[in-house]
Amino acid sequence: MSACFERIAGGHKYSKANKGAVYGGDKKRFVGDAIVHTHHLRDDSDQWLQREAAGTEEHSEKHEDAKSFPKTKPSAVAGQQIYKSKCATCHGETGGGDGETASKLKEKPKDFTKLSFMRREAPEEFYEAITDGKESMPKFKKSLTEAQRWDALFYVWSLATSPMQIEDGKRIYEKHCEACHGENGDGQGVASKGLKKQPKKLDDPKFMMKEDGNEFFEKVTKGDKPMPAFEKKLTVDERRNVVDYTWTFVYKPAAQ
Ligand code: HEC
Ligand code: HEC
Repeated sequence: MSACFERIAGGHKYSKANKGAVYGGDKKRFVGDAIVHTHHLRDDSDQWLQREAAGTEEHSEKHEDAKSFPKTKPSAVAGQQIYKSKCATCHGETGGGDGETASKLKEKPKDFTKLSFMRREAPEEFYEAITDGKESMPKFKKSLTEAQRWDALFYVWSLATSPMQIEDGKRIYEKHCEACHGENGDGQGVASKGLKKQPKKLDDPKFMMKEDGNEFFEKVTKGDKPMPAFEKKLTVDERRNVVDYTWTFVYKPAAQ
């Protein structure tokens, strides 16, 4: 049984968000597990198969490394341990870019608490940097598994938000977004049916890993027809918080 399936079957708080997502350590087996063990996962598996069929091209060998997508939902909690042992010496205990080795480097390690930086980056770019290295940052391709790199990445990602902000974002999402984007971010909310364009699937790592916080904020603020503008309905903080929440459809944040 894949770790992913165990997590889903565990039925904890995030299993709902997980259910619509397209993870599976071994995709075929995940699909198999889902069909055999829980009927309510079947739809999602079919969806996964369709996406797989559509995406076979981009899944070719050469993309397997830096461009790969997480096969199980990354965990910020698991990432914290990795961060402490492999990253903090440069990036600092709290992510401020002020670790003990930092002053010896040519370039300053990135400050993960600097929102102006964090909100313009996409997870995919971070993954590439962690995998292949960047400037004086070493590559972690050999010393960390893919899953560990994604975990560490999303720990870093979570430094730019807080459990309180995510909790607030969830409240806003349920009130203003869920009808279209669906409870689990799968784009199948009750109001999605009649729309000219389908809502984006916020649980699809292939979409989410390429996006950044500023882009989402802009779309939520100004709207993206048929998605309405939220500039007047939500405060700036509320829009930021709900955007932070949307990423929890593709990673597990720290316990709230
Ligand atoms: C030897 C010091 C060092 C270590 C160890 C290190 N980093 Fe870095 N990291 C850097 C430096 C320096 C940069 C800035 C590179 C640049 O200027 O583009 C950076 C940049 C980054 C970035 C930003 C990449 C981007 O797209 O701009 C991320 C994300 C990152 N590191 C994550 C990590 C993670 C996760 C680990 C541990 C697994 C780690 N780093 C370990 C030095 C380090
Ligand atoms: C009336 C239905 C509807 C509501 C309500 C709605 N959306 Fe959307 N949303 C859409 C549609 C449709 C798209 C895709 C638009 C397109 O493909 O150009 C979309 C796209 C998005 C995107 C992707 C933007 C991008 O960069 O491509 C994000 C993020 C998003 N919505 C978040 C939200 C959030 C957060 C809320 C609540 C504050 C929300 N949406 C409310 C229908 C909706």
